[in-house]
Amino acid sequence: MNNNFDVIVIGSGPGGYVCAIRSSQLGLKTACVETRDTLGGTCLNIGCIPSKSLLHSSEFYQKANSEFNDLGIETGKIKLNLSKMMSNKSQSILNLTKGIEFLFKKNKVTQLHGKGSVLAKDTVSVIDGSGKKISYKTKNIVIATGSIPTSLPGIKIDEKIIVSSTGALSFKKVPKELVVIGGGYIGLELSSVWKRLGSNVTVIEFLDHIIPGMDTDISNEFKKILDKQGINFKLDNKVTSVNIINNKAVVDFTNNKSKKRERVECDKVLVAVGRKANVNQDVHELDIQLDNQKKIQVNEKFETSIKNIYAIGDVVNRGPMLAHKAEEEGIAVAELIAGQAGHVNYDVIPAVIYTSPEVAMVGKTEEQLKKENIKYKVGKFPFLANSRAKVNNETEGFVKVIADEKTDKVLGVSIISAAAGNMIAEASIAMEFGASAEDIARTCHAHPTHSEAVKEAAMMVDKRPIHF
Ligand code: NAI
Repeated sequence: MNNNFDVIVIGSGPGGYVCAIRSSQLGLKTACVETRDTLGGTCLNIGCIPSKSLLHSSEFYQKANSEFNDLGIETGKIKLNLSKMMSNKSQSILNLTKGIEFLFKKNKVTQLHGKGSVLAKDTVSVIDGSGKKISYKTKNIVIATGSIPTSLPGIKIDEKIIVSSTGALSFKKVPKELVVIGGGYIGLELSSVWKRLGSNVTVIEFLDHIIPGMDTDISNEFKKILDKQGINFKLDNKVTSVNIINNKAVVDFTNNKSKKRERVECDKVLVAVGRKANVNQDVHELDIQLDNQKKIQVNEKFETSIKNIYAIGDVVNRGPMLAHKAEEEGIAVAELIAGQAGHVNYDVIPAVIYTSPEVAMVGKTEEQLKKENIKYKVGKFPFLANSRAKVNNETEGFVKVIADEKTDKVLGVSIISAAAGNMIAEASIAMEFGASAEDIARTCHAHPTHSEAVKEAAMMVDKRPIHF
């Protein structure tokens, strides 16, 4: 193999593999280095995809137990086969990671197996599993090494009793008592999985609300729904220690206001207090500039402080740590390297929590707009008044459209609904095209669909809904 490339991408997560494919499509000779045996990074192997598989299966299990009978579907005794559920998850991961291998071949991306390191601005070394090191020359390097879970001081993740999301996606037995530290994305998705499968789940969150950064309206409604589902919350509490005694975890926490101390004993503890940039040693050795959160600092062209070395995805100081944000950056950086005008609109990055119901949002929240002193109007439409949601027994939640008070331009949309994850795309497109609430309100939406609630919420901005 010729060891000279135009672009070498380090990391094959959603940022890296997409970047490699786009680079190759643009005629650049491209390689992608990956340490794992399979492509796809955290998202495909131990993140978004396995969690969605378990969320999907556990939702069916829970529905079979509690809803099928009401729909006239009589079953025998429902029994959980956790190892089969896990095998199904593994098979889905395998299919998708093989899919990227296929896409690499189709797009002529060279796959390099091993740990990639930047030796100089034009050299990447790859050390494979047997310790063999090969160096490659390249005109451009894209660092897409992602992120890793963080923990709390004094709490060591052993992936057996005290686990990160990785461990919590592979429990061999349903834990009787599960404590989740952190009421963010990972904490709430995995709480949902294990609650549905039979665990007693307690979420301990430092703030006085769940999902920081989310519209307060949505956060409050979401919390009420999760309360009803039986998840226990200890908000405004700080975990001070986790100790393992006789194969059980003992979690101590203190209320931030009352200072009341509490202790719970449990079988497993999931630490979900955020992730940190996975900045490898080579970045430090080359003195590539980091920001104060220890993420790689890049400019609007994704250039690091060293020319021809770029960085994208969770490892950089731009945008949220989300797979689809990384994908957009992967495409943009490839286009910029090829001399085109790659660009990411950070104002329109949707976010979805794949619980039941799902929660999705794009654009600004009311709290952000107040801070920025922007005057706005709000339209809210409940799923209780949406016919499709009603026939499906999915009436929880609402759509909230926020529009500029003067221009009517849509500034933000939040949705709690069984179908929120798919519905938010409509709001994203509207915002990308600079639509007004009136534009959405005057667009014909198919009946009967959950999406009609988006139209009605947009009509509500002008106080003229039909079905409420
Ligand atoms: P997160 O940032 O979403 O939530 C962490 C939570 O932990 C916060 O609510 C925070 O207040 C709380 N916390 C921090 N210190 C604490 C302490 N000492 N005691 C109690 N609570 C404490 O982080 P998470 O859930 O770990 O997710 C990591 C990243 O992965 C996020 O950036 C998220 O965007 C991404 N992700 C996205 C998903 C999606 O798109 N559906 C799913 C899973 C992860």
